[in-house]
Amino acid sequence: HSPEPCAMVIFGATGDLTHRKLLPALYNLALEHPLPAGFSVIGFARRPYTDEQFREQAFESINEYSRQKPINQQVWESFASGIFYLQSDFHNQAGYEKLNALLNRLDRERGTGGNRIFYLSTPPSQYPEIIQRLGAAGLNKSRKGWTRIIIEKPFGHDLASARELNRQVLRVFKEEQVYRIDHYLGKETVQNILVFRLANGIFEPVWNRRYVDHVQITVAENIGLEGRAAYYEEAGAIRDMVQNHMMQLLTLVAMEPPIAFDATAVRDEKVKVLHALQPLQGQNALLNTVRGQYTAGWMNGRLVPGYTEEPGVRPDSGTETYVALKVFVDNWRWADVPFYLRTGKRLPKRVTEIAIQFKQPPSMFWQRSNIQGQIDPNVIVLRIQPDEGISLRFGAKVPGTEMQIRSVNMDFFYGSSFMRPQPEAYERLLLDCMLGDSTLFTRRDEVEAAWEFIQGILDAWAEAPRETIHPYEAGTWGPQAADEFIWRDGRRWRRP
Ligand code: BG6
Repeated sequence: HSPEPCAMVIFGATGDLTHRKLLPALYNLALEHPLPAGFSVIGFARRPYTDEQFREQAFESINEYSRQKPINQQVWESFASGIFYLQSDFHNQAGYEKLNALLNRLDRERGTGGNRIFYLSTPPSQYPEIIQRLGAAGLNKSRKGWTRIIIEKPFGHDLASARELNRQVLRVFKEEQVYRIDHYLGKETVQNILVFRLANGIFEPVWNRRYVDHVQITVAENIGLEGRAAYYEEAGAIRDMVQNHMMQLLTLVAMEPPIAFDATAVRDEKVKVLHALQPLQGQNALLNTVRGQYTAGWMNGRLVPGYTEEPGVRPDSGTETYVALKVFVDNWRWADVPFYLRTGKRLPKRVTEIAIQFKQPPSMFWQRSNIQGQIDPNVIVLRIQPDEGISLRFGAKVPGTEMQIRSVNMDFFYGSSFMRPQPEAYERLLLDCMLGDSTLFTRRDEVEAAWEFIQGILDAWAEAPRETIHPYEAGTWGPQAADEFIWRDGRRWRRP
């Protein structure tokens, strides 16, 4: 179904996210027709652009980053006619009054019906002021139609600031109007986690402590800092990836079946998982986490600089670019099943996957018969990206006159089963916001619960000496300490 006509105001319209993700996503929606007639985009930022110049910028963004090329001239022209630019400082109330006037004009001229989405894509330090000024201009609710606000990550820097930001937002907007983005939730393969678990009679019954030995969630990146030192120095891997994306993956794997696929039911269940996490605090946090920082190394035949040699990074920086942790979901379904999480930059390849490893059946039969080969445990791997798909590893007899066993894979690939392109995460999420569906966005209590868990780790790390951040060479799978960490449990990391 298609959303009602509306206008989307992007704060921080000249920034990287707008350029790489938002404008290409909106164009793709226009191309595939879910965008309503009259849909309008207003870029709100400091740089002195005219509407025409901002349209040219938009064209370049789309030309470079859209997954659909070449640009369809007819669709572009109609999309471009709805693009506007408003130059203003975020501190200047007059800018918000002008915005109000422009939105009212678009309601009349383009039929946007008083429906508005405000998208905060500025540095997060600007969020409170923009929110407060939107409220002061009366833009937090429309006289006619609906008003929604999308808030980009990071949502807070720690538990206290996340709570404070929630208070600031909710002073001006109601929770139903607030869409906190975690773009992992917009990925097709992430949405498929629940479908895989709940739509399949052979997998649903085994998804618990009786059958699962442990779970490994890996979010590996080969990129380094990409010029984001100012942000990353303050964030590190735990804030950048674990607090949001990895906690989301964990909750989707671990949650109980919701009573319906709607925003309340799904998020209620996710929050329960976050509340069930065994807290990691003090010594316990240090024992169950490993931090790393990359040093110079070779990647694809190229020598890349170490983290502290990147422009904008302090030479003695204590920011982690890798983190591994062991987490327990202390509830009926998952008691005593470890969830190993790891993420890092400058690892050998870009790969996100969730591996569910199962307990093994008894083996005396094989041992007594002196049968060759090794039977590995069954593993279901949800390949989130790239090579999107799912594989199941199981043991098979090697063809031949002897009895020999080895592991084989049964594979599902999106590319061959569904011969159609996947929408980008932002396409799905922007569309859901227009439709008023917040299932794939994070709720107030959810963000705070995730931060509560992370805060314990942050506090423990703050007291720990710098030496507890282990170096690892760029292009390797993280510090040796992370391997030892999992070996201690008699397990090892997968090499995806
Ligand atoms: C962002 C992080 O949220 O996610 C980046 O800030 C990271 O550091 C990115 O590179 C990864 O997203 P994706 O979609 O490429 O896995």
